[in-house]
This record gives sequence, structure tokens and C-alpha cells, in this order.
Amino acid sequence: MQCLSTILVLSAVFAGSSCYEVTNLTFPASFLFGTATAAYQIEGAWNESGKSVSRWDHITHTSSIVVDGSNGDVACDSYHKYKEDIEMLKQLGVDFYRFSIAWTRIIPSGFANDINQAGVDYYNNLIDGLLEAGIEPWVTMYHWDIPQVLNYIGDFSNPYTIDYVVDYADVLFSLFGDRVKTWITFNEPLSFCAHFPLSSAAFGVHLPAGISEYLCSHNIVIAHAKIYRLYQLKYKWEQNGRISIALNTEYAEPATDSPADIEASNRKLLYDLGWYAYPLVHGDYPRVMIDTIRNLSAIQGFPFSRLPMFTLNEKVIIRGAYDFFALNHYTSSLTADASSVIGSPSFLNDDLVEQFKDPAWGNSSASWLTVYPEGLRKLLVHIKETYNDPEIAITENGFADEPGVLNDVGRVSYYQSYLSEVLKAMLEDGVKVTAYTAWSLMDNFEWYNGYTVRFGLYYVDFDSPDRTRTAKESAGYYRNVIQTRCLTENCGT
Ligand code: NOJ
Repeated sequence: MQCLSTILVLSAVFAGSSCYEVTNLTFPASFLFGTATAAYQIEGAWNESGKSVSRWDHITHTSSIVVDGSNGDVACDSYHKYKEDIEMLKQLGVDFYRFSIAWTRIIPSGFANDINQAGVDYYNNLIDGLLEAGIEPWVTMYHWDIPQVLNYIGDFSNPYTIDYVVDYADVLFSLFGDRVKTWITFNEPLSFCAHFPLSSAAFGVHLPAGISEYLCSHNIVIAHAKIYRLYQLKYKWEQNGRISIALNTEYAEPATDSPADIEASNRKLLYDLGWYAYPLVHGDYPRVMIDTIRNLSAIQGFPFSRLPMFTLNEKVIIRGAYDFFALNHYTSSLTADASSVIGSPSFLNDDLVEQFKDPAWGNSSASWLTVYPEGLRKLLVHIKETYNDPEIAITENGFADEPGVLNDVGRVSYYQSYLSEVLKAMLEDGVKVTAYTAWSLMDNFEWYNGYTVRFGLYYVDFDSPDRTRTAKESAGYYRNVIQTRCLTENCGT
């Protein structure tokens, strides 16, 4: 097999140091392709038309935590350029566009006492423009930009924030639910409850590790379920949409085939994904989390388990509160058992595993993102087997490279190989994947990495006042996949 990296439609591509053979299976006609962005990462207009300050406005304006000192004040300027964004989506030929709504634009006070009409107009224009173009809007309610006033009073660790976010969701359903039929309540609680707080010390906030991650996640699961139940009671009969929560995880590949490492890999998946998915599907946290964290808490001298418990009433509303499984996935890690190591209280120590990367896997410009396409197939099979064979929408998947790369062969081969594994999972393992979302429509503000790392199908020139957008090679490749349902030149042969 020959492994090339320069032409667009290949049957074999580089995936790190090895050669990866792309399948010639095809996607069914009903399969949906989309792309995604998030408000803070693209909109800009941070203080325009009544919008208030979000946590990320605050972080970027008051700390030096973003590597290039940048912020989302202007970002891709999509607040002013959304019509161009719709043109790009039309060029790609996507079925849907997943974007997020900025809470601070709709109810700037953080509470549903006052609605900001300019914010409502912006999203109405965007939604209507998408529908006119034949593109379905998929809306994320919360993609990390909590109003700073609510961040001051404890963010999602404060249980009252559950009521405030449910009120916000109610406003969104009433304003946009006549046209939005796919809702994602929260994007990646694992990232914002467990991983981001690690960096919070850099801007002066010292959250109690091993406690705050669990409070935040606990409240998120309850808030998600309350939003889901609100929709069922008040809106579903009329609007008939569907709701999920976007959960992210790496695949945890066992470092060796020893029973301890295989168990560690399973445990890791139950901690990272099961933390949220298990309550929603089975009504409570995974047994291994309940038992391990109780034991560790006792050893560490706590009078209670650091993992909160759901009440019976909560379990009843949580179980079954989803219409499909929404998965964000980018990368994998090797996972080894570390059950003899009892570290300080922290979600990251409580799983009793050690993780590292396989040097044989390909790299990207983001240190955490290594290329291991087989991990996605294994993860999809794990979800099928662990969570009652759900319908799965992949709500994010993508590759990081450096600014300015228009001939982005790394991204093309990433999409080819990861989509190839999606096809195998669907057609050979019987996993019910119905949609795929490429992250991202265009280069944008990549959180702590600022503009140093790029994920876009379209290049954005952040030095031009116009924020000029230019299609990369990957945009052409993705368009071709959407049109032909095929990843190579050889489908059907
Ligand atoms: C997941 C997040 O949802 C998104 O905001 C981020 O840009 C991508 N991962 C890439 O890191």
C-alpha cells in the first residue's frame, strides 16, 4: 500500500508515523453532516448592543493566562459577518450548523428578568438565514461563557445556578424553539467542571480540588435534566424538538493487555464519560466512582464522600433525560492502572489511572491532540455497549494545526481516517451514528491557546480588520465527502 499525503482524495493517509488505510464504505443518504462553532470563539462584539461581561471576557481582560495574550473581543467578528458565515456553510453543503448562544447577549443580567432585544434579533437573523439556506440550526445553550455575575456567585458549584440556567433555557425555547429542533444544553462539562478549574489558580481563583469538580458536575446533570423535563412539559407537544448534552472524552486505550490496565481503561471511560452518561442512562453515577471516591475520601479523612449523591427525586428526573447521545471526541491516551497511588483529593487522581501518549501516534499543533483514529471506533462501540445502544450524533471532531496553513493535508487525513472509523463502527459494528460535526467551520479563539492553534475548515486572517475568510483544502475535501458520501476515489469498487 502506498501512503501519500499531498493529494486530496486518498485511499491511504499518514496517521502519525504509520500508514492508515481508508475504507471505501459509504455513508447512507440519511446521514447528516455539519460543522460547529461557539459564541465566544467567533462572535466578537463583546460589549456591543447590550451584551454583558462573560467569564471569558473577564478572564481574558484580567489575566495573562491566554498564551498569546489575545481575547475574543473581535474574534471572527461573526456578530457582524454572520451572512458570510452562512455563505461558507452553503459552499460546504452541510446539513446543519451547530453554534452556541451567548447567555450574556440574551439576558445580560444573568437572570431572566430582562431580555435584550438586540441579542434576540441577532440569533433570529442567524437562524432565519440558515433555514433559508436549507441548513438546520443546532443550538448549544451553554458553551462556557457564563455571565460573570453568576461566576462571582459560585458558577455551577452554586446549586441556585441550576434555576438560573433553567430560566435561561426557558427563554431560549420560547424565543427560538419554533425553528430550532436540536438543542444541546451544555458543552463538555468534563472540560469546564474538571479540566478548566486546574487553570483557575492562574487568575486568582483557588477552587477546592476534589470537591468543586463534583459539585459543578452534579449541578450540571440536574440542570440538564430539569431543562429536558421543562421542554417535555411545556414545549415538546408544540415544538417537537430533541435535546441532548455534548459529552467529551478521549478513548482510553489500555497501555498493556494486563487485566489491571484493561480495567483501568474501562474505569477511565466510566469516570470521564460515565460521570454524566451513567446518571442519564442508568439513573446514578457509575458504581466504581461511588465506591472509589467514598473509600478515598475516608482514607483522606473526610467525614463524607466527596462525590455528592442524587436524591431519589433527582434520579427519577435524570434517568432518560436525553433524546440522543451527543459526543465530542478528538484524541486518545494510553491508560495504565495506578490503583496503588493515592494522591491528593482531585478528580484527576480519583480515577486511579495514569495516562500518556503512544509515541507512534501522529501529532497536531495542540499537545493534547494526537491522532489515533481507531480510538473513535472503539469509543463508539463502548458507548453502544454501555449505554443501551443509543442514537449517537458526533457533535465535535477535528484537528489542530498552525496559523496560515491553507494546504492543510494533516486535517484532510485526520478527517479521512476518523470518518473511516465512523463508517466501520456503523456498518461493521452496528453502532447507530446518525450525524457528524467537523470542528470547526473556521479558525477561531481557541481558549487558553488564543489564536496560536487553528481548527478551521476556513482560514481567518485575524490581522485584517475584515477578518477575511479563505477556504482551506479541507473545506474542499469535506464538501466532496458530503456530496459523494465517500472518503476516497474508490467507493463501491
Ligand atoms: C472542544 C470545545 O468544545 C471547543 O470549544 C474547542 O475549541 C475544541 N474542543 C478544540 O479544543
